[in-house]
Amino acid sequence: MAWSPLLPFLPLLLLLLLEVPAAARASPLETLPEGAAACKAGDLCLQTLLRKSDPPPVNVSLYYEALCPGCRSFLVRELFPTWLMVLEILNVTLVPYGNAQERNVSGKWEFTCQHGEEECKLNKVEACLWDLLEKNLAFLTIVCVEEMDDMEKNLAPCLQLYAPKVSPGAIMECATGDRGAQLLHINAQLTDALQPPHEYVPWVVVNGKPLKDQSQLLYLVCQLYQGEKPDVCQLMASSHREVCFK
Ligand SMILES: *[C@@H]1O[C@H](CO)[C@@H](O)[C@H](O)[C@H]1NC(C)=O
Ligand SMILES: *[C@@H]1O[C@H](CO)[C@@H](O)[C@H](O)[C@H]1NC(C)=O
Ligand SMILES: *[C@@H]1O[C@H](CO)[C@@H](O)[C@H](O)[C@H]1NC(C)=O
Repeated sequence: MAWSPLLPFLPLLLLLLLEVPAAARASPLETLPEGAAACKAGDLCLQTLLRKSDPPPVNVSLYYEALCPGCRSFLVRELFPTWLMVLEILNVTLVPYGNAQERNVSGKWEFTCQHGEEECKLNKVEACLWDLLEKNLAFLTIVCVEEMDDMEKNLAPCLQLYAPKVSPGAIMECATGDRGAQLLHINAQLTDALQPPHEYVPWVVVNGKPLKDQSQLLYLVCQLYQGEKPDVCQLMASSHREVCFK
């Protein structure tokens, strides 16, 4: 990733980097159930950004595996900045599994991962985070973990930052137990059902279609969104001529 179209927006990005995590920290979302419309008046709440009458958000699904360098780079340098800039028009789904394989061993799912046992464990950790936390906070926590060299060791500080009420112990219990295996099996099925099938990781699907030029994510999301575009999209439009989306 030698050049990123996000570069011109770096100052804005840094501003957002400072502000959004602070908003997320102050939010009570991690205690709320999935899809919680239950944002109380006066609370800082990311979901209030979505108004009911708005057109549907653009779906962006990332099929990846926890230890693949290209996946980490895409997540941290493309998806995360894009999310920070236009989260109000995005519906991000993370599917950790990637090129792993599964076998049914006497009724239990066992997994083999491209980067070994540790990767299988981390895929389960991230599947559990995605399952147990409110989605925005799960996303922030996973990005935080993926940025670190020792991911397992950094689970606790990342949770402390974004979902302090969730204990690292609860996540590890999920990851190392039946629930973790069940969640990874679901991700295996989602990955195997991809049409067209994934060819490599990270594999990015935007509104049902594979994104081939992964540096074009922000531009494409802006282009596909049917409603009033966020300001950053107007800036993008003037600096781009073409997009590769086949
Ligand atoms: C967001 O994506 C998830 C998973 O793909 C899907 O179940 C959900 O319906 C989507 N939400 C919206 C508002 O499109
Ligand atoms: C997994 O294997 C067990 C027995 O080995 C079998 O009873 C079960 O139906 C299998 N499950 C699937 C989904 O193949
Ligand atoms: C996003 O995915 C959901 C669930 O699959 C689907 O209902 C919705 O229409 C998709 N949104 C767009 C803009 O394609």
